[in-house]
Amino acid sequence: MSKIGIIGAMDLEVDALKAKMNTEKTLKKAGMVFQEGTLGDAHVVIVKSGIGKVNAALCVQILVDEFRITHVINTGVAGSLNAALDIGDILISKDAIHHDMDVTIFGYQLGEVPQMGTREFAADEQLIALAKASCEKVNPDINAIVGRVVSGDQFISSKDVKERLISNFQGDCAEMEGASIAHGAYLNGIPFVIIRAISDKADDSAEMDYPSFERAAAAHSAALVEDMVQSI
Ligand code: ADE
Repeated sequence: MSKIGIIGAMDLEVDALKAKMNTEKTLKKAGMVFQEGTLGDAHVVIVKSGIGKVNAALCVQILVDEFRITHVINTGVAGSLNAALDIGDILISKDAIHHDMDVTIFGYQLGEVPQMGTREFAADEQLIALAKASCEKVNPDINAIVGRVVSGDQFISSKDVKERLISNFQGDCAEMEGASIAHGAYLNGIPFVIIRAISDKADDSAEMDYPSFERAAAAHSAALVEDMVQSI
């Protein structure tokens, strides 16, 4: 039977899902509260990881070790790196890269974690297809694309940094957890997908836009996740 770990970095990314689930068990570990139970017909563990790559990686490992999850989904918001992705639109991960990893001095690609054998952590094809189908069903008026998530321990709020992420990594959105969740899923052999709704353009307007749009954007992503887990 499938057991799906659902991770959001912030309360507003998981609160709506937690409110709808039927909680059977709660575990507090590493400062995180893991709620296991059902969301509709799906068996889920929903958790707020906290912000950034270390919190996200720890969270995945606890989901694997303590709950034996079979799939992991990351829901939340992101800054757009693609002109085709406007505020409120949705990005479904094709893959994810750490944009703040640089061991190029020893011949690795920019973004490649040494000795991992891959720079891009590929999302699961079946989860991508389910996310696309749920998006068309739940958010029919919202533009959704499948693309690349780039992650780092940085809020991107400058045109120059944004352009660097586009030219170095061909990223479609920037956030602060996805590649760590992908990396943790890869190491544990678990399928993953990242669903991010756009809260800002990751440029000089990001500081203004983010607080205004984060809540609505997070709700778009959560609605999609709630629907797709019914089919896993
Ligand atoms: N999450 C939402 N917007 C972001 C941005 N601009 N940079 C990093 N993480 C984000």
